[in-house]
Amino acid sequence: MLRTLPIFASLIGRFALTNAIPTGDLPLSDAVEAQRIDPRQTAYWKPPMKSNIQFILTGIPDVDEDFIRPNAGIYEVDMFYTPDTTIKKMNDLGQKVICYFSAATAENWRDDYSQFQRQDLGKELPDWPGERYLDIRRDNVFKVIQKRIDLAKQKGCNAIEPDNVDVYSNDNGFTPAIVPDDTIKYLHKVSAYARSLGMSVGIKNCVEILGDIFDDVDFAISEQCVQYLNCTAYANFTTAPAPGKEGKPVFEVEYVNYTYTGEWSDDGVALTPTAFRTQNVDFPGLKDEKLRRKLCNLDEPGVTVDSPYLKINTIIKTLALDGFIMFCDGSVERTRTKDVGQKKNAGDMVVRRGWAREKMWRRSMGLPV
Ligand SMILES: *[C@@H]1O[C@H](CO)[C@@H](O)[C@H](O)[C@H]1NC(C)=O
Ligand SMILES: *[C@@H]1O[C@H](CO)[C@@H](O)[C@H](O)[C@H]1NC(C)=O
Ligand SMILES: *[C@@H]1O[C@H](CO)[C@@H](O)[C@H](O)[C@H]1NC(C)=O
Repeated sequence: MLRTLPIFASLIGRFALTNAIPTGDLPLSDAVEAQRIDPRQTAYWKPPMKSNIQFILTGIPDVDEDFIRPNAGIYEVDMFYTPDTTIKKMNDLGQKVICYFSAATAENWRDDYSQFQRQDLGKELPDWPGERYLDIRRDNVFKVIQKRIDLAKQKGCNAIEPDNVDVYSNDNGFTPAIVPDDTIKYLHKVSAYARSLGMSVGIKNCVEILGDIFDDVDFAISEQCVQYLNCTAYANFTTAPAPGKEGKPVFEVEYVNYTYTGEWSDDGVALTPTAFRTQNVDFPGLKDEKLRRKLCNLDEPGVTVDSPYLKINTIIKTLALDGFIMFCDGSVERTRTKDVGQKKNAGDMVVRRGWAREKMWRRSMGLPV
């Protein structure tokens, strides 16, 4: 980013300058048109509508032996724990990298924690001593998060997933209360900045404001829309957001527990996927193939593995969000991972926060909580 920023700043300067000149005085030449390119429209990678994805939030992918499985095309990893060399190698191995970090909570073990001011910090998260909600309306919070985005750029991330931005749905301790509109405004700034550095931006959950933030994000990540929510919340996002607009991709993860009696290949492919016994506490009557068909929405009319329900890209993992991945066709692989002495299991964290949102969504829909 150190190289990119001055270029960006000078482009903004030019953009502002040419914009300030009354149009009537402008010679209508190509050169002038070229100068009018909005620097916010910098070309950057965007995930395709249809793709697999692998989430590794416990440990990091181990690419020491110059290979990675599965060949999902896209990986999401923890931005702080994953070194630039790993991200670079993943790119070389054909995998785009989405970097996950919290953009709305402060964790007191992060290097940048001291940059938050007292007024930035709200209530501590119930299950995570040392982690507090952030007042996303405050300039200082955005300043610190901008540096996190700079770090994502330095590390070579292709995209970011700024998590926890739905502070409005949590008991965060701020008065006046943070409302969904605050998240919309905050995300607008976060996205503009990340895109100016050449990274795309994804949003997790936040179904209540999906329509409002459509232009500010390049993809969405959904957890358990089959299990708890309703995947139809993403219908407009993937198909017809508004007249004349194209849809954007959604990457959906559902969870199972499993036992496996078969063998793995040396590079991490389950050789007898039919030997997996899978369960999900919320679908006690469904096992194995029936459960997978449910979680992948394969029993919906007209849906196949290649033509997914509402164009939603689904994968199946365990709550640990480690190397295990099951695809909707029933094949299973295991990404080789490295332990990086993580402070907490990101999977648990992600899922537990999911609940607060799900409850809110269910209430807003008049469904039982
Ligand atoms: C849930 O999905 C069903 C089937 O697509 C749809 O008919 C229903 O309206 C959805 N409910 C909510 C609350 O979104
Ligand atoms: C999808 O968009 C239509 C038209 O704008 C709107 O009526 C509908 O409520 C939207 N559906 C969802 C699930 O947001
Ligand atoms: C897996 O098992 C654990 C421990 O019993 C349970 O808390 C969790 O909800 C289970 N996950 C699923 C997806 O069923």
